[in-house]
Amino acid sequence: MKIIMLGAPGAGKGTQAKMIAEKYGIPHISTGDIFRANIKNGTELGMKAKSFMDKGELVPDELTVSMLLDRVGKPDCKDGYVLDGFPRTIPQAEELDKALSGRNEEIDFAVDVDVPDENIVKRMSGRRACLKCGATYHMEHIPPRKEGVCDSCGSELVLRDDDKAETVQKRLQVYHEQTQPLIEFYTRKGILKTVDGTQDMKDVFGAIVGILG
Ligand code: AP5
Ligand code: MG
Ligand code: ZN
Repeated sequence: MKIIMLGAPGAGKGTQAKMIAEKYGIPHISTGDIFRANIKNGTELGMKAKSFMDKGELVPDELTVSMLLDRVGKPDCKDGYVLDGFPRTIPQAEELDKALSGRNEEIDFAVDVDVPDENIVKRMSGRRACLKCGATYHMEHIPPRKEGVCDSCGSELVLRDDDKAETVQKRLQVYHEQTQPLIEFYTRKGILKTVDGTQDMKDVFGAIVGILG
């Protein structure tokens, strides 16, 4: 099963994608996580990506698309995957389609986790992320067992550099301009499914499982 997660920054794509990956036994692929891992390891890709991410802008398609296509070509992706944060522009979606149709494959579902902008800023300031394994917590809603420490891998939790209030506003603006058109794109393909992302995370997951089967 091949799934795309759509939704504004902070809508809960990563939180849900992780649960989907566990339940269905497929890899969770987050382009944001891959960029952050590259930044942490000081790679050239990471340095290039950081300058855009810190401003709340998208990393250019030419850096992002090849990285993602390379990842989904790996052997662990042969039975499917859940993409979180990709595609984010119409050209990215078209490149993905082209690569998949070359292999006689297609995306099964595009799940839009719908959360109004007003709820987003509040969520982001409470978020703490593990840069090692990609786990995400919220200081109020989803706290780790031990403050500041990842439940899954024991690494230190951090506030992401791009979760400052001004940067979140910019990311929301970029989302509406460049990513939201994908909702129309996948609606036309007949695979768009919308879930109410303002519910408790377990209820959001229940709605998604109801769709995926
Ligand atoms: P990326 O890492 O993808 O960030 P994003 O889209 O801005 O999304 P987030 O990860 O911030 O939010 P999320 O929807 O995953 O929410 P989460 O589950 O954490 O991208 C970062 C940057 O990388 C981009 O700005 C761009 O520069 C670059 N980039 C990445 N991909 C790219 C691409 N394809 N092209 C170009 N550039 C790219 O949840 C948020 C918080 O809410 C958490 O604290 C969580 O615990 C909490 N929460 C989750 N669900 C609930 C709930 N139901 N109720 C209450 N709280 C909840
Ligand atoms: Mg995320
Ligand atoms: Zn971790």
